[in-house]
Amino acid sequence: MCLDRIRNKSLLDRVCSPKEAARLIEDGMNVATSGFTPSGYPKAVPMALAELVKETGENIKINLYTGASVGEELDGIWAKNNLLNKRLPYQTNGSLRDSINNGDCQYLDMHLSHVPHYTKLGFLGKINVAIIEAVAITEEGHIIPSTSVGTSPTYVEMADKVIVEINTSQSIELEGMADIYMPKKPPFTKPIPIIMPNDRIGTHFIPCEIDKIAAIVVTDIKDNVRPLAPIDAISEKISQNLIEFLEKEVESGRLTNELLPLQSGVGSVANAVLGGLNNSSFKNLVCYTEVIQDSMLDLLDSGKVLFASGTSITPSSEGLERFNENINYYKEKIILRPQEISNHPEVIRRLGIIALNTAIEVDIYGNVNSTHIMGSKMMNGIGGSGDFTRNAYLSIFTTPSVAKNGDISSIVPMVSHHDHTEHDVMVIITEQGVADLRGLSPKERGKSIIENCSHPDFRPLLRDYYNHALKNKSQHTPHSLDEALSWHTRFIRTNTMHMD
Ligand code: COA
Repeated sequence: MCLDRIRNKSLLDRVCSPKEAARLIEDGMNVATSGFTPSGYPKAVPMALAELVKETGENIKINLYTGASVGEELDGIWAKNNLLNKRLPYQTNGSLRDSINNGDCQYLDMHLSHVPHYTKLGFLGKINVAIIEAVAITEEGHIIPSTSVGTSPTYVEMADKVIVEINTSQSIELEGMADIYMPKKPPFTKPIPIIMPNDRIGTHFIPCEIDKIAAIVVTDIKDNVRPLAPIDAISEKISQNLIEFLEKEVESGRLTNELLPLQSGVGSVANAVLGGLNNSSFKNLVCYTEVIQDSMLDLLDSGKVLFASGTSITPSSEGLERFNENINYYKEKIILRPQEISNHPEVIRRLGIIALNTAIEVDIYGNVNSTHIMGSKMMNGIGGSGDFTRNAYLSIFTTPSVAKNGDISSIVPMVSHHDHTEHDVMVIITEQGVADLRGLSPKERGKSIIENCSHPDFRPLLRDYYNHALKNKSQHTPHSLDEALSWHTRFIRTNTMHMD
């Protein structure tokens, strides 16, 4: 029975069925799990709990805390079975998104670096049960995480009880990829000793008191990873614009041909944009990021990227297969850290990160909305985009200039929700071009974003808005408040932001 994976024989009598483990979870509990952008999350116990509830007809409501998004077997099934009272800090599941937007589930959309901090300070209440996916438990009871680290070290530290899901579909060769370092609370915090993205500073296991392990479940259910949209012409053009912009930075002497450590956001656009670097002249790149998607594996394979530090491996199903087949190769080139460290402001600022994230919409003054559709419907969440953007050496947002077949302009007079302010956003890139906002006043930014980034179908309307607002001479940031959100209200009324 998995003796290479459960190395302390005294733990073998804690091995039980998923249903037996699920019985440890009760109504009103705070349950914290492993998992980060559908990878390395528990599956067997969450599914068993949903089954139990169906069988008994019990009314159970749980507060679910994770590293970031998790897959259908947890977020999807718990949302569909109405098990969720509150959820944080990030999600990408369609059923859960519906529960959040229709008010069935409360949602805290948080900077991911804040999650361990809030947990330790008790803002999230007592962690009653932590469920952690692992590839093995050491002789001492420590946990070897699978494909994500996320907030698992803090959840294990703070939990009353720990359920470990040993997942035999996750390669035992993952052991050694994680680097677990947990800063002490102020005033005892010391500088985090990461000087280069490939510095190892911690242990390869999550420390766990052996007596906390209340149940061990063995499963082989694979991560339900998200498919990525095929790379389209728009994403290719955005990527090309990004490369040209970075080439100019090299020419100006602000960067070298090796750039600086790259962070790349989540989703299809980010994956495509990063992938485009394979066709660039930059070399010996390194990444200090959060998630490692397919395009990062391509860059590691081609030798364009020498090393990547993150908190989870989140490829598509084909990417996951490729990763598993060459795991020893990737182990030399990838470190997985707790999200407290991968997203830590101190390290991001010290390393001089180039942060590449995707916007839902951007306004003419450089404010960015990454999370809300038409100001009120939650898409996914801010994730780590704020952690990186606020502390980056160079913060870049990319977005196609239009959405929904051209009915929505991604460049709007005023964003309908603020995630990243004009103070943090340095460069906007669409398939139309690049607006470099560094050193520009609001009025200069307005011109630059409209002329360089907006879609030609919407550019005249944006110019009208800007010029009309400009007529009121007594405004530092010119707006016509009556009109500022009229593009959104028009879309809600007519399904298009176009006038006719
Ligand atoms: N208005 C309305 N809908 C919009 C829109 C806009 N301005 N821009 C995009 N959308 C819709 C798209 O139509 C698409 O809808 P669909 O799912 O119904 O097809 C959806 O939003 C996703 O857009 P897509 O163009 O496919 O982009 P993506 O997969 O690259 O995701 C974000 C883009 C912004 C949603 C995603 O990057 C995200 O969640 N970011 C926030 C978190 C983050 O940045 N984390 C990184 C930290 S490391």
